[in-house]
Amino acid sequence: MTGAERNEAVSFRDIGIDFTGGRGDWVLRHLDLTVEAGEFFVIVGPSGCGKSTLLRLIAGIADATEGDVRTPEGPVTRPGADRAMIFQNVDVPLMEWLTAKQNVEFGLRMQGRPRAERSAVADDFLRKVGLQNAAGKYPHELSGGMKQRVQIARVLAVSPGIVLMDEPFAALDAQTRKLLQHEVSRLWREEVRTVIYVTHDIREAVLLGQRIAVMSAPPQAGIKSMYQVDLPYPRDEFSPGFVELARQVEIDIEEEVNKLWADSAVPRSTR
Ligand SMILES: Nc1ncnc2c1ncn2[C@@H]1O[C@H](COP(=O)(O)OP(=O)(O)OP(=O)(O)O)[C@@H](O)[C@H]1O
Ligand SMILES: [Mg+2]
Repeated sequence: MTGAERNEAVSFRDIGIDFTGGRGDWVLRHLDLTVEAGEFFVIVGPSGCGKSTLLRLIAGIADATEGDVRTPEGPVTRPGADRAMIFQNVDVPLMEWLTAKQNVEFGLRMQGRPRAERSAVADDFLRKVGLQNAAGKYPHELSGGMKQRVQIARVLAVSPGIVLMDEPFAALDAQTRKLLQHEVSRLWREEVRTVIYVTHDIREAVLLGQRIAVMSAPPQAGIKSMYQVDLPYPRDEFSPGFVELARQVEIDIEEEVNKLWADSAVPRSTR
């Protein structure tokens, strides 16, 4: 078998990350994880445990020090059209000289799709994210939440099998965030793509994820626990099942965050 098994979207095998180039300063180590095709998979964990780095490995824009990352296409060694990343709001990479629609069409143009088809697909995805009336606007004329929606439309329009989302709504106001969380959940259910989603927002994790991985604190971070979320979509954040699960995940993460703080309180010389 050259790639991951057929029903696997991504598999991490014995992954280790050491940015010091082999000096043994492992951010994370011995991490094994498989994400199934079509799954909405959420990763939570303390700051610095390597969540963004894991997404970057899948995107093919970072390399592991140890282990390998595979998709059904084979080992990941570079970016590819089967994977696309949605970045945090602060660095939404839109092209300022193109309208919202032209931004969405850009990737389709790169794929060599004919003009009429590009236009139809872009209109369709702008409508799906509720931006049909902003198609002709330039990025500087859009709010942060609208820009993030253009980014989502642009990524989904090119049909990547795997969508990577790194705290995509962290910088938005609570109301816009809520709206976009529901949009992403609905789009995922309509399109059934694999989504791997990193967040610090526990409510968001339980609202969206089929599984939630809680990572342990660095150094040598890994997957601490895995939660299967069996609540039906769309989820009711006030239901007892939702509240209870959110509480468990919160306690789990807090334990790791506390370890980080306890660790940083100890002077280096006495460690
Ligand atoms: N290119 C890099 N060079 C050196 N160190 C890096 C690099 N990228 C990440 N790191 C370090 O690796 C660790 C993990 O970083 P990463 O961004 O993956 O964490 P994270 O879990 O996403 O954190 P946060 O929740 O704060 O976003 C951090 O200590 C970070 O400083
Ligand atoms: Mg991060």
